[in-house]
Amino acid sequence: MVKKENKIEEIARRRGIFWTSSDIYGGVSGMYDYGHIGTLIKRKWENTWRKYFLGLNGNFFEIDCRNMMPDKVFKASGHVDSFVDPITKCRKCGGIERADHLVESILEGNFEGLSPGELTKLIREHRIKCPKCGGEMEEVGILNMMFPVMIGSSLGYLRPETAQGAYVSFPREFEVSRKRLPLGLAILGRAYRNEISPRNLLIRMREFDQAELQIFFNPDMINDHESFNEISLYNLRILSVDSRKSGIVHEISCKDVSVKLPKFYVYYMAMIQKFYLDVLGLPPEKFRFRELSDEEKAFYNKYHWDIELDIESMDGFREVGGIHYRTDHDLAGHQKVSGRDMDIFHDGKKFIPHVLELSFGIDRNVYAVLDMGFVEEMVGQEERTTLRLPRALSPFDCAVLPLVKRDGMDAKALEIRKTLTAAGMDVFYDDSGSIGRRYRRMDEIGVAACITVDSDTIASGTVTLRDRDTMKQVLIKDRDLAGKMRLYISGEPAESLGNAVIVKPEKNPDMNSGFTYSAQGK
Ligand code: ATP
Ligand code: GLY
Repeated sequence: MVKKENKIEEIARRRGIFWTSSDIYGGVSGMYDYGHIGTLIKRKWENTWRKYFLGLNGNFFEIDCRNMMPDKVFKASGHVDSFVDPITKCRKCGGIERADHLVESILEGNFEGLSPGELTKLIREHRIKCPKCGGEMEEVGILNMMFPVMIGSSLGYLRPETAQGAYVSFPREFEVSRKRLPLGLAILGRAYRNEISPRNLLIRMREFDQAELQIFFNPDMINDHESFNEISLYNLRILSVDSRKSGIVHEISCKDVSVKLPKFYVYYMAMIQKFYLDVLGLPPEKFRFRELSDEEKAFYNKYHWDIELDIESMDGFREVGGIHYRTDHDLAGHQKVSGRDMDIFHDGKKFIPHVLELSFGIDRNVYAVLDMGFVEEMVGQEERTTLRLPRALSPFDCAVLPLVKRDGMDAKALEIRKTLTAAGMDVFYDDSGSIGRRYRRMDEIGVAACITVDSDTIASGTVTLRDRDTMKQVLIKDRDLAGKMRLYISGEPAESLGNAVIVKPEKNPDMNSGFTYSAQGK
């Protein structure tokens, strides 16, 4: 049986979502390029993220910093010394493996955060061998994951996280935004890590994108948030270190979680969960926060919970982001190395602001929605593959399809396309091939709605809107279409937008979806 991961990879390649980078030269391990459909989906995710997270506070802004930074930045942040992975080399074939992942592939559990000595011991005790040739593995060592670059004649690094750009920009942005706290600085852009064993498609790459929001705040205020009361009874889905063994996710109110974690932190946990459940509309059981143990926490974090999504093709819950209380670790580090005073005067006090970081891997999130949306089903005798993406992430809001390319239907469809585009929608137009085949193409790339123009459109000004997931069709007056489409994108069911059209399965070898519509039921 073909694995779901391979099916997604195949459809991604065939439909222009993503594929191995430089594949005409054999590809580069850990690098993927997005085709035009993938780019549209990724942009939709980014824009949804921007709108939501920057909208949380009038003092949250996006900035745009460089991908290369001088080595001093990463000495100050601790990445030169501490951003390392444990590795082990095969004595026979020379293959290098990430030691904790190698142990994890053989033994049950999570071995992140163990020392090189502890990992070597486990490898020896359990006689763990090279997965490629069965050879013996060397002692575990460590390798820095950053890519060094020469900037002119000076050493620099490709940033391993977008965050440092926000920290070095903080003094200027604090001035520009009239010395108000909390101040949020978001960066959406590339990050680079020399992963030892990149794998799992977009999940572990060497060049990837992050969306990160750094919230600078007064540490005296950590136990409060002005809007905490609004979410106090909202239940968070959490897997604490204590319930790891059972794997049971508990639903606990923000109020109760705040007994253990500061309210400022818990407030943003709630905002993150609402982004996934309310804005993207993912099923609650696919989402959880996972607490990290002291050994697993990143070196800069005091509190560190991962944001996890259940990705079936990746064997279950995987990290797609994190909520990190970085204290003054970074600003104090930059003060020390750069000599620039990072203290501010605020509310009559002098202090270095603390940082709460909301960090998201864009590619992992994109992959997660592709995985969750990927559905194969039998429709009559035919198999249908659909990407049931959240409507907000559909690469096109709709496709406009003339039933046939004559009798004025194509001209009318082009006119409708123009009207919808002018109304701010992303519209795809396709007039080639059977209508069934066109529906199938749109289903496979996750287009939420197909607008079909037929002879009735010419005669009486009605089009049909076909819902991707249910395949139900409704009739809509073409002059109402832009308004109804807006409602549809915001989540209204198709049935509430117009009268249903009775759709009859039809045996037609040229129509892969096996469906056509009749004008009955108007
Ligand atoms: P992992 O434990 O899976 O290696 P991490 O804990 O190192 O991830 P972070 O350092 O917290 O990840 O990075 C923040 C986010 O950036 C992650 O939650 C993830 O979504 C994304 N990310 C990190 N590394 C990669 C990668 N190699 N490829 C794609 N996305 C990544
Ligand atoms: N900026 C947090 C991270 O990349 O882990």
